Amino acid sequence: VTDSFQVGAAIERAGTLPASFYSDPRTHDRLRERVFARAWHLAPPAAIPEGRDCAQPHLLLPGVLDEPLLFTRDAEGRLRLLSNACTHRGALVVPAACSGRELRCPYHGRRFGLDGRFRAAPGFEGAQDFPRPADDLRSLPLEARGPLRFFALEPAQAFARWSAPLDARLGHLPLAALRFDPAGERSFEVQACWALYLENFLEGFHVPFVHPALSRALDLERYTVEVLDEAVLQTAEARPSEPAFEAPPGHPDAGRRVAAYYLWLFPNVMMNFYPWGLSVNVAEPRGPRSCAVRYHRFLWREDLLEQGAGAGLDQVESEDERVVESVQQGLRSRLWPGGRFSPRHEPGLHHFQRMLAAAAGGTDARPAAGAP
Ligand code: FES
Ligand SMILES: [Fe+2]
Repeated sequence: VTDSFQVGAAIERAGTLPASFYSDPRTHDRLRERVFARAWHLAPPAAIPEGRDCAQPHLLLPGVLDEPLLFTRDAEGRLRLLSNACTHRGALVVPAACSGRELRCPYHGRRFGLDGRFRAAPGFEGAQDFPRPADDLRSLPLEARGPLRFFALEPAQAFARWSAPLDARLGHLPLAALRFDPAGERSFEVQACWALYLENFLEGFHVPFVHPALSRALDLERYTVEVLDEAVLQTAEARPSEPAFEAPPGHPDAGRRVAAYYLWLFPNVMMNFYPWGLSVNVAEPRGPRSCAVRYHRFLWREDLLEQGAGAGLDQVESEDERVVESVQQGLRSRLWPGGRFSPRHEPGLHHFQRMLAAAAGGTDARPAAGAP
């Protein structure tokens, strides 16, 4: 097993990542630290407390990061994300959703505001240099785009830069008008590395082979792939009778009848915009060879829900799972020689593999957490 991975810059000549990339526990550990510990994450809508003066714990990436976090909402409705590890000895401050104007650790009674600020610690009379700022619960960056909430532990890049492809390229879509639809919540366990799930998402090449029903809604001759900074945008145009977006005059997509925008933001956020609204899915690693995929649905036009490219998504998901699990099995082969990229169809996949190779191999140029 190698410690460094190379995917050439020229797609016409580059070879794919080796099979070991998708099963090796050391690679998995490196990606955990270098990618997921530094990534922007999409909060599940159900993780966000709706009431006032309440708190709800959230475990980030169970089995992988296992970071105990806590969403709180105060009397004014302000949402915050805090560390849920008590600054005394580390107990979970809030083991289960609760309401109240302050947080009280069940272990030795230390108290915090809903903003994470230390308030009181019984038994600490006589302690010197106490409390310090580090006795507050850490508050984490939390950002919004429409109804979506994103957060990070130690983000590798500023949110504005990370979300720029969404803001710049799809700024004409009225995100603020999206409404969360709990009936669209889905979660799937996939017996494959999260990266294989993403690779499948990043090419439309397989659509006519794997998704016969979806193919009938799309004009695949006009399917485009744009490699952006740490993102890829795929745009599928509609067949004439199918519902479509119309972009405003002057927009790069003006004149196109867009059935779906498929936007991937590094590492694992997939935003699928359809005329009815947004289906966002996230592939979370569970282990080196398994992941969980969760779907959240937000609506603009419920009447269009089962039309066009955004119809039958459960069917499309099961078709995708089958091929992704098949790849995980095929990669166990001792005989697989390593693959190549289709220059026409797979520039998004190539971009993704180059980013992963850089993250998993060589030295990490980013400063360590907490370094100046
Ligand atoms: S661990 Fe929270 S008060 Fe002791
Ligand atoms: Fe697919």
